[in-house]
Amino acid sequence: MDKFVVHGGVPLKGEVRLSGAKNVALKTIVASLLTDDEITIDNVPDIIDVRLMLELLGTLGVKSHFSGNHVRLIRNSLRNYEVPLEVGARLRTTTLVLGPLLSRFGSALVPNPGGCRIGARPIDRHIDALRQMGARITYNSRDGFFHGQADSLHGTVIRFPKNTHTGTESIILAAVLAKGQTVIENAAAEVEVDDLIEFLNGMGARIVRTKPREIKIDGVTRLHGTSYRLMSDRNEEVTLAVAAALTGGTVTVTGSVHRTLMAFLNPFRDAGGRYSAGGDTATYSVSRNLRPQDIITAPHPGFMTDWQGPWAVLMTRAAGLSTIHEAVFESRFSYVPELQKMGADVSFFQPEVRDPEKFYNFNMRDHDGMSPQAVRIKGPTRLHDAVLMMHDLRAGATLLLAALTAPGKSYVHGIEHIDRGYENIEKKLQALGGRIIRVPEEAI
Ligand code: EPZ
Repeated sequence: MDKFVVHGGVPLKGEVRLSGAKNVALKTIVASLLTDDEITIDNVPDIIDVRLMLELLGTLGVKSHFSGNHVRLIRNSLRNYEVPLEVGARLRTTTLVLGPLLSRFGSALVPNPGGCRIGARPIDRHIDALRQMGARITYNSRDGFFHGQADSLHGTVIRFPKNTHTGTESIILAAVLAKGQTVIENAAAEVEVDDLIEFLNGMGARIVRTKPREIKIDGVTRLHGTSYRLMSDRNEEVTLAVAAALTGGTVTVTGSVHRTLMAFLNPFRDAGGRYSAGGDTATYSVSRNLRPQDIITAPHPGFMTDWQGPWAVLMTRAAGLSTIHEAVFESRFSYVPELQKMGADVSFFQPEVRDPEKFYNFNMRDHDGMSPQAVRIKGPTRLHDAVLMMHDLRAGATLLLAALTAPGKSYVHGIEHIDRGYENIEKKLQALGGRIIRVPEEAI
């Protein structure tokens, strides 16, 4: 395994182009199961999760060619409905193939998904909804597979009990070829879902977001090929904005999706961050001493759970007490002990919540009942260098930001997590003047 060696404390300055959105790329690749025609996708990030998804689709008969952020996909006549455990168990989004396999071929065998270890991450909402569409799905704990059968999927009204981003996409992917109309109520409103909808409509699907949280899908009998360019990665933009403010630098991103980032930009500006945006460009810096903020994560259009780790590092520099209350996942603070090692004054607490089942996006039965859902950060603190371990993708970005701001030399391990979702992260940071190198384990 490689690791990063980071000499922190250098202001990042310059311009960088954002990569395509991981959380759209993975789903558009899955959509290649829905047609026999060729699909081409541009702006695809070259990251481990995309490579894994292409490998997974390869086991289902989809041939792919991936070079220069351009993917060409074509399904051959092979009829295979089983995702091998070895590939499928490594990706959270594996179960997205259930709907397409069931709607096109009536059978699916899919292993329990893997992906980032952030909480229990069950997929009960996806499975319940697929069952409402006529699928028979059982989970066999002896082999660790979901076994799915469907004579045909039919449209129906599905009301998600709580927000689910990939659950919404899972049902869209199942419904595009189902008989009749599917209505998804309490559908996820993330802009990545809308990018997937635009892509599928380009294949001949009939999908409309009728209300902010309602999506209607009229099933069609056939989808055709398409060419599509993915939106930029919002999480990468937020990471770079925080990197600029933290290091006292100025970073311009091109391919910016700042219009979809108001839930981040408002507290960023209130905290003393500065941004100017126009067209597809945005420039981030810091205008004065940082001020503390209180954040509660929420599904779109709220402050995204993916941003709270980087935000925590920013708040270590704010003068006063900040809080972050994580309301989407029940375990997303793996970075906290690492920040404490660097001298951050971060402590856990449990805010009073009147109706936790209603307030939190996770199922309360999946919560261990003890782990607090919030942190207090007392600043300002100048973090110092340390040996750090990443435990998941966004926690990985968090620690990288912490290392970039800490004078001295930090060693960051577990970087396979960041390689899952950030394309060429160290090259981009180097281009901005960041002193970061990737070193093979044995070379240190
Ligand atoms: C997606 O995760 C993203 N992943 C996440 O990004 C992102 O943090 C999250 O949405 C919120 O926007 C992808 O798109 C691949 P959810 P997802 O279903 O779909 C619980 C990243 O780093 N839940 O909205 O898994 C669940 O456990 C990743 O790029 C159930 O209990 O999120 C969580 O607590 C990480 N049962 C909450 O709901 C279900 O059936 C929200 O999950 C589904 C979800």
